[in-house]
Amino acid sequence: MILHKVKALKGEVTIPGDKSISHRAVMFGSLAEGLTEVTNFLQGADCLSTIEAFRQMGIEIENTPEKILIHGRGLHGLQAPSSVLDMGNSGTTTRLISGILAGQPFESTLTGDASIQKRPMRRIMEPLSMMGAAITSINGNDCAPLHIAGRPLHGIHYQSRVASAQVKSAVLLAGLYADGITQVTEPAISRNHTEIMLRYFGANLHTEDRTASVHPDPRLMGQKINVPGDISSAAYFMAAGLIVPGSEILIRNVGINPTRDGILRVCQQMGGNITLLNVKNDGEPVADLLVKSSSLHGITIEGDIIPTLIDELPVINIMAACAEGTTIIRDAAELKVKESNRIDVMVQYLSAMGCDIKGTDDGMIIKGGAPLHGTTVDSHLDHRIAMSFAIASLIADGETQIKGSDVVTISYPAFYQDLAGLTC
Ligand code: S3P
Repeated sequence: MILHKVKALKGEVTIPGDKSISHRAVMFGSLAEGLTEVTNFLQGADCLSTIEAFRQMGIEIENTPEKILIHGRGLHGLQAPSSVLDMGNSGTTTRLISGILAGQPFESTLTGDASIQKRPMRRIMEPLSMMGAAITSINGNDCAPLHIAGRPLHGIHYQSRVASAQVKSAVLLAGLYADGITQVTEPAISRNHTEIMLRYFGANLHTEDRTASVHPDPRLMGQKINVPGDISSAAYFMAAGLIVPGSEILIRNVGINPTRDGILRVCQQMGGNITLLNVKNDGEPVADLLVKSSSLHGITIEGDIIPTLIDELPVINIMAACAEGTTIIRDAAELKVKESNRIDVMVQYLSAMGCDIKGTDDGMIIKGGAPLHGTTVDSHLDHRIAMSFAIASLIADGETQIKGSDVVTISYPAFYQDLAGLTC
């Protein structure tokens, strides 16, 4: 993909469904009794990996343009897969499904692409083993491929060292199959879609401060779910609207769950003009966002806000490069174990564009304001890297080339078309 500077961005864009919520709708719908209907499902490669995995375990899932229909077979209705389950590029599928598979009366093997085979799985293997699971890394490197032999599980109170919704969800899902209450306490609150949606399907689950507790063996019943637009996808247009002079964009149907809205708070703290319109709450809060170009200034981003914007940090780097003054990002060591090492990759290519950026152990320091110029970026199989540099290209002189640009199909298949649709 070759991209160039634009004059301004104007118009409206409707954001596709939330990736985290789409995954969970398929998983919980499969474990529920009867029909689950999902509208605005994200037709991204990651969520399609989740659909495929549950189909391989005997769940009938109809994927039509209007809706997904999941014919759930109840908590104990999964069948042994006839072959290895392919997680593709999806960390969420891998970690959440491991929690489900840990308590099944059958064995399974999970694998995925080159990126997934480098991502740390010890973080779920440890708590699931504590619950009694037999889960091993086939290559002995604590990464996929994983072999899981289902076992009877017991409830634990797990103190997680990372604020990770994937870890929390894996343990809570295993807890559905345990012999007592399962609790997870995390160091800071991560996205809570599992808690909201499992309760909606009928689970006995409650949260208090940083601890979520689930009772075993609920009767989950099929539901209707309308997936809100993904704030992590909207983030690219928020950043673009703010940094490209003379822009005004209306971003429709964006999920603004407080465990995900750190990007909004950061944009506003940096001086960004974003107004929330038509705020609604149907289980998950949603709004339209009116974004107007703004002069941004650097800020420090650290502590409990980090899990609420973890996937948006690459595009926040782009905003920081365009902001006056210094932006410091701390407490974000998790960036090193995403689809790519997002500290190294952002430092490499933002430096190549002329930005003063330094990587640290747990984040980066960006001195903004220098003009950016085009360069060649390799996406490193990381959709958020490709989309972040597509946004940087909009204000960079010359040509920006993105290699491996089609990786955006993971979370936002129509990303480049939607961006082109706003370009003046
Ligand atoms: C996700 C949780 C986050 C996030 C990922 C999706 C989820 O990962 O980065 O894109 O749907 O639970 P961690 O749990 O590793 O923080």
